[in-house]
Amino acid sequence: MARLLLGVSGGIAAYKALEAARLAVKRGHAVRVIQTPASERFVGRASFQAITGAPVLTSEFEADPARGAYPGEPLSGWVENTPISHLALVERAELYLIAPATANTLAKLAHGQADNLLSAAALAAACPVAVAPAMNNRMYLNPATRANLEVLQQRGITVIPPAEGPLASHGEQGIGRLAEPAELLEACELLLTGVGRPSLAGVRVLITAGGTREPIDSVRFLGNRSSGRMGYALAREAARRGAEVTLIAANVALDPPPGARLIGVQTAAELADACRNELPACDVLLMSAAVADFRPVGAVDRKLKKDEGIPKLELERTEDVLRQVAEHRRADQVIVGFAAEHGEQAVELARGKLERKRLDAIVVNDIARAGIGFESEQNEVTILTGDGQERHVARSRKERVARAVLDEVERLRVAKGGTDGARADTRSPARV
Ligand SMILES: Cc1cc2nc3c(=O)[nH]c(=O)nc-3n(C[C@H](O)[C@H](O)[C@H](O)COP(=O)(O)O)c2cc1C
Repeated sequence: MARLLLGVSGGIAAYKALEAARLAVKRGHAVRVIQTPASERFVGRASFQAITGAPVLTSEFEADPARGAYPGEPLSGWVENTPISHLALVERAELYLIAPATANTLAKLAHGQADNLLSAAALAAACPVAVAPAMNNRMYLNPATRANLEVLQQRGITVIPPAEGPLASHGEQGIGRLAEPAELLEACELLLTGVGRPSLAGVRVLITAGGTREPIDSVRFLGNRSSGRMGYALAREAARRGAEVTLIAANVALDPPPGARLIGVQTAAELADACRNELPACDVLLMSAAVADFRPVGAVDRKLKKDEGIPKLELERTEDVLRQVAEHRRADQVIVGFAAEHGEQAVELARGKLERKRLDAIVVNDIARAGIGFESEQNEVTILTGDGQERHVARSRKERVARAVLDEVERLRVAKGGTDGARADTRSPARV
């Protein structure tokens, strides 16, 4: 149960914020709402007031009849003895969610404008802030909106991405549809689990994400379908738990997670080099990238022409990054591999890999199942650990899977003698 402040701006998807507020109240959160004046043209205060059981504010110049208290809090005690500021709601919030966030509101937030209570509260927030954009797809894809979102992410604001599909405006289609209320709440609860619990503070977490590309010529390559979503979710979750995150990203077209140091690579060889360089300075390594096992021999540095005939592709093995890591790791490091295996044997195949590569854990998903894994927002995995544990994570968003993986990493660190939040001694010799 948390004090959740919900900011509602003036988009057609404002009606979904009612459902998000209802779900949050149902889950036991104390919800207060700030609306922009424009949003009142879409949804009236009375609805939010009825759902949250507390008055809605739209302006810093109006009195707050609840004096900044969240539902369930007595109006006596701290409230009576505390000088009440126009920003009391956000000062006391544990999370500030702005949903829907209009293009206009995002622009204001990116530029620090504070000409209404919603945007002033965002400037004053000390708690985590999340925005859920919702708008017409051309507005969303406009470089101005993209730049505003990038600025907000760089400043540590969580962006809950919109979905693609029919938009709320009649007949409109594309990207820009507000995330569903249940997803908004799930994202909020993910952010809230980290509040006051920086369980990986000072721990250096290295993550590989995406899929490598092995060139055939200067324009063509052999690649794979990994989108990088799983690795990026791991990076966000690790950063949220206070870790220092380095992300080796192979061909990922997603917005970088806030706070992570990003190293871009393309090929398996580049990824192996980056891992070699970064391995000594990490405490935890999560190898979620899909790394090519084979590459074309003798890639040419120009475009092969059709009239040169059909090229014959000869393949050679790439470097085995996991084996290289296993050879050079320190005993105090926690190394987690990822395996995409096909069919019923998936878990057994992964168990073999766990033992052969001397990993601390392996996360396996069955790529024969539809709707999970590659290119999907969801995953369903089994986490096998070197100390004999097996944990199944039912089909869910990759953020939730990331949480389960990092819970397991924390447990393994404790088992190795590294306490939560304490940096392991990096000078100890390699012993595996
Ligand atoms: C019917 C209608 C629907 C709108 N839907 C959206 C929307 O989904 N997203 C958006 O960014 N703006 C939308 N707008 C434009 C905003 O309401 C407008 O930019 C307003 O200034 C936003 O103010 P606010 O950000 O302070 O709430 C819509 C306008 C109208 C008239």
